[in-house]
Amino acid sequence: MLDNKGFDLWADGYDKSVGLSDEENTYPFAGYKDILNKIYKSVLEAKAKDVLDIGFGTATLTSRLYDQGIRIYGQDFSEEMMKIAKEKMPNADLYAGDFVRGLASALLDHKYDAIIATYSLHHLGDEEKVSFIKSLVSILNEGGKIYIGDVAFWSRKDLEACRQEAKAYWDEDEFYFVYDELKKEFSNLSFDQVSFCAGILTIGK
Ligand SMILES: C[S@@+](CC[C@H](N)C(=O)[O-])C[C@H]1O[C@@H](n2cnc3c(N)ncnc32)[C@H](O)[C@@H]1O
Repeated sequence: MLDNKGFDLWADGYDKSVGLSDEENTYPFAGYKDILNKIYKSVLEAKAKDVLDIGFGTATLTSRLYDQGIRIYGQDFSEEMMKIAKEKMPNADLYAGDFVRGLASALLDHKYDAIIATYSLHHLGDEEKVSFIKSLVSILNEGGKIYIGDVAFWSRKDLEACRQEAKAYWDEDEFYFVYDELKKEFSNLSFDQVSFCAGILTIGK
């Protein structure tokens, strides 16, 4: 599993390598651009004013929302990703920190209209994910939504089929989302399967 230093090393080449995997329609980033575009549109349509991005990376998604005048808050543990994101969003409230240890206290003082996490929360185990997402619901405004765009499947059977297909490329250190398992914990969860290996999980409040 990549730690913050691993993401630092990936930062400069990140957009290119992700774009290539998306264009070639290969695991894990097949559908990446569509996922980010769909979340972008949903957040704009919902007229969100305050948006929190967890693991914002190079800010591919949030910088577009920032350019629309939306107030952006975020947390990431990679200094290099942070540098790139700050250049694109100089007035955003960005905090360094490992979300495994929770969110920065300044971020917990606010409530958000939308909380976004794209390709970041698969670093949490299945149980950790549930408790972390529950903690996010508590900082969401009434009527707000959490959007998780990531490698995700309707069922464990679908995930296993993708693992077989990806073979040696499959990352055994990452824990991907399974809709029908998460649905037991979040009654208002919906899922949009965008590519063969990825989709958007949405939780409303
Ligand atoms: C694959 S990148 C995704 C970046 C961006 N959200 C996107 O969709 O392009 C994952 C990001 O999450 C951050 N990240 C991963 N694990 C993290 C953790 N435990 N705490 C904070 N940030 C983390 C990484 O530094 C990186 O910027």
